[in-house]
Amino acid sequence: MNKISIKSDDRVIVLTGAGISAESGLPTFRASDGLWAGNRIEDVCTPEAWQRDPWRVWEFYSARRKAGAEAQPNPAHVALAELESRLGDRFFLCTQNVDDLHERAGSRRLVHMHGELSKAHCENDCGHAPVEDRAIYQNLAEVGRCACGGRLRPHIVFFGEIPLEMERIQHEIDRATLMVVVGTSGSVYPAANFVHWARQHGARTVYVGPEPPLNAAAFTHVVEGKAGEALPGLFLVE
Ligand SMILES: NC(=O)c1ccc[n+]([C@@H]2O[C@H](COP(=O)([O-])OP(=O)(O)OC[C@H]3O[C@@H](n4cnc5c(N)ncnc54)[C@H](O)[C@@H]3O)[C@@H](O)[C@H]2O)c1
Ligand SMILES: [Zn+2]
Repeated sequence: MNKISIKSDDRVIVLTGAGISAESGLPTFRASDGLWAGNRIEDVCTPEAWQRDPWRVWEFYSARRKAGAEAQPNPAHVALAELESRLGDRFFLCTQNVDDLHERAGSRRLVHMHGELSKAHCENDCGHAPVEDRAIYQNLAEVGRCACGGRLRPHIVFFGEIPLEMERIQHEIDRATLMVVVGTSGSVYPAANFVHWARQHGARTVYVGPEPPLNAAAFTHVVEGKAGEALPGLFLVE
């Protein structure tokens, strides 16, 4: 396999999706007909689902927390943390994942654009910052409330809500000369558009995953393979 060379004036942005955590045993979501761990998105991951049945939502995310805590980073997470340690602030990671496997592998310059399993925030969006919350709830009565009286909900960007940190992500895409996208089906927006933004100013764009994503045509290079096998050793830092 050809290596991807990174020169001393390159800036790298990496976008990861559910596929990078697949080899850690966390199921992806399109893999099973649009179900996430057997659940329909509209039952567990939309503002309407939260309004209708907050316990169903917390039950789902409690199960995701349990599975996430039991999973371990795989060689793909480690390869990205190692790349960051070599490139320093010329590296930036944007993940769509809500697990913390990137952090646990050592990544530091990262944002979770779709939120984090390990936090909760007020359902009223009253301005209080998200709080750390790794509880695996057994019933809704255990779930805490914000000072404003609102119930705490998972710190997850539900479908139909605006992703987090978009200004910073846009800024990092604008100055990147290489974009590497790993394990995402190219079906969730705006993340599926990032490759187009990068191409607009001439960045090289590489996709890594076992099958071409929906937006495959926008990549200058597609590396077909599992992330944990393809990423270690893929980069040649000059
Ligand atoms: N681990 C997590 O945090 C997690 C898991 C499932 C879903 N989600 C959420 O659901 C949404 C899912 O969208 P998405 O595009 O990230 O994922 P997706 O489930 O839509 O697509 C997964 C992609 O990963 C690829 N893939 C499967 N195995 C792989 C491997 N070993 N190596 C590399 N790629 C592999 C598949 O070909 C597919 O293109 C995201 O917004 C995310 O927040 C998160
Ligand atoms: Zn509040």
